[in-house]
Amino acid sequence: MYKIGIVTMSDKCSQGQREDLSGAAIKELVAELGQVEQYRIVPDDPDIISATLIEFADEHKLDLILTTGGTGLSPRDNTPEATLAVIDRLVPGIAEAIRAASLKKTPKAMLSRAVSGTRGKTLIINLPGSVKGVRECLEVVLPVLDHGLEILS
Ligand code: MTE
Repeated sequence: MYKIGIVTMSDKCSQGQREDLSGAAIKELVAELGQVEQYRIVPDDPDIISATLIEFADEHKLDLILTTGGTGLSPRDNTPEATLAVIDRLVPGIAEAIRAASLKKTPKAMLSRAVSGTRGKTLIINLPGSVKGVRECLEVVLPVLDHGLEILS
């Protein structure tokens, strides 16, 4: 069982103005892969996002961090930049596969700037913010995560 972290990027959720249904959906979908040991809702602030990813990877030594939200084009969408700032190695194939599969569901998938990469022995994957997006994207990566995380560990 892998150690998993979920980070929800949302100004509204972090202020209690919206329920984090996407974080809850991720929790449910990864139940067979591992244990969700850390879960946090943060505002769309790049420094807070980066600091949270570093804490989850370096202090909590999680195997996998799944982020939701903040990957689009709004001025407050900072997740990809904050992720790129903390990863050592890009894993472009994950983001490519997610986008390719997602484009078959909605052309709006091209608006996601999500990235994936590793920091030490932690794999970080950006997912979109909607529950629908989370479900569709996790469906693509879940079948290969066991193998990917095994190699990384
Ligand atoms: N990918 C999938 N599979 N399904 C979706 O519904 N939504 C798209 C895209 N990726 C979507 C998706 C939309 S509408 C946007 S704006 C971008 O992800 C960015 O979403 P975010 O800003 O919530 O991260």
